Amino acid sequence: MNVVILAAGQGKRMRSDLPKVLHRLGGRPLLAHVLDTARELGAGKICVVYGHGGEAVRDALNAADLVWIRQEPQLGTGHAVLQTLTFLDPAAPTLVLYGDVPLIGTATLSRLIEEAGSGLGVLTEYLEDPGGYGRIVRDDDGRIVRIVEERDATDDERAIGEINTGFIAAPTAALKRWLPALDNDNAQGEYYLTDIVRLAIGEGMPVATTQPEDSWEVLGVNSKVQLAELERLHQYRNALLLMEQGVTLLDPDRIDVRGELDCGRDVTIDVNCVFEGRVVLGDGVEVGAHCVLKNAVVGAGTRIAPFTHIEEAEVGPGGRIGPYARLRPGTRLGEDVHIGNFVEVKNSTIADHSKANHLAYVGDATIGKNVNIGAGTITCNYDGANKHRTVIEDDAFIGSDTQLVAPVTVGRGATLGAGTTLTEDAPPDKLTITRVKQTTVPGWKRPVKKR
Ligand code: UD1
Ligand code: CA
Repeated sequence: MNVVILAAGQGKRMRSDLPKVLHRLGGRPLLAHVLDTARELGAGKICVVYGHGGEAVRDALNAADLVWIRQEPQLGTGHAVLQTLTFLDPAAPTLVLYGDVPLIGTATLSRLIEEAGSGLGVLTEYLEDPGGYGRIVRDDDGRIVRIVEERDATDDERAIGEINTGFIAAPTAALKRWLPALDNDNAQGEYYLTDIVRLAIGEGMPVATTQPEDSWEVLGVNSKVQLAELERLHQYRNALLLMEQGVTLLDPDRIDVRGELDCGRDVTIDVNCVFEGRVVLGDGVEVGAHCVLKNAVVGAGTRIAPFTHIEEAEVGPGGRIGPYARLRPGTRLGEDVHIGNFVEVKNSTIADHSKANHLAYVGDATIGKNVNIGAGTITCNYDGANKHRTVIEDDAFIGSDTQLVAPVTVGRGATLGAGTTLTEDAPPDKLTITRVKQTTVPGWKRPVKKR
């Protein structure tokens, strides 16, 4: 089928310089959600109608299966679809979607297409407050006659509770007849797409109406308030899917997935966690409250305590991370690695069973197995101009408050005494220490305040 996505509207009420359809829902542009839906339906060709300033939209979302059509000036929804006609395959039907209505589901659209058959299909909904929408006018037998826009409607018509959601499925050859014939003789002086209902009926073509599976599917984004409402709906739906897959969410109202979250069996996620990009959590992983994970892989059985940040990093199985840990890009942790509070790791590998439990900076380091890194240890990886590596071999013990001035290597089984400032390699299996010898100063008196 052909899909036309209308996205030329300015979105004035967003009060933003960003084109409306680039505002994000679940971390992705509104339009990206609609494109996903179109592709899931197996659209052969997707025409996106964009408007002034929309080059940014094209740059952000361009792909080989998209045809971008600039509509300038914007003379109405009928005029918008008219611009796409030469690009549509006349043998296939055309589905009209909206760049600012991102939650529309494939099941609803499939039904709309199915019920339209070789005729016209209109997705309608019943609202308690239909204000602002086009109304569905039916005859005494309940057959749809036409759609009337609110501003053109009589008082009786305004009392109709059935509204036009905007989604339609139409035979493309018919659109090619109808759209050039539309006029703009109405209250808004616009070419209304909705007028094709009248034209179809005039030709004796059947017009089917159908409703969405869920009424929130047809909600649009016109303001930041509506964007926030849709965000919660989207997140809640995501949360339900995760729970259906067996994930334990301590509160499905307090999770934000801005990308793809892939969970194994018996994963538990506490409240207020944010997952960005692609995150993979292995079997039995526990994520504590208030964690932020971005493009991360976490091995089976690892426990992540609250307030931990992990970005572009891989954590092995059986690990203990946090609370208040920060794993930055390029971090790779082996099995049963412990990273405790206020430990920052960047561009480093830490092999199995090694531990850095408190207050440390590990950057540009290669750390072996069974290494213990004491509190306050710092890899001095930056000389003000270049970065250098620190290598710590298996079974080394790094005493507290040590500075490792890179490039430097700590040999296998070496021990560094607390407070060491290591500037040369430490030999394996030996104690290396740079501390000055402890003395007690005889006769020293604490200064007292002068009167
Ligand atoms: C339209 C429908 C109305 C329906 C409502 C549902 C018409 C005439 N009316 O009204 O029956 O109840 O949607 O929300 O179709 N757009 C363009 N180019 C244009 C005009 C609009 O791309 O020249 C796009 C807008 O970006 C928007 C969509 O089409 O995404 C709908 O346009 P809008 O002006 O919001 O239509 P409504 O007046 O709300
Ligand atoms: Ca609208």
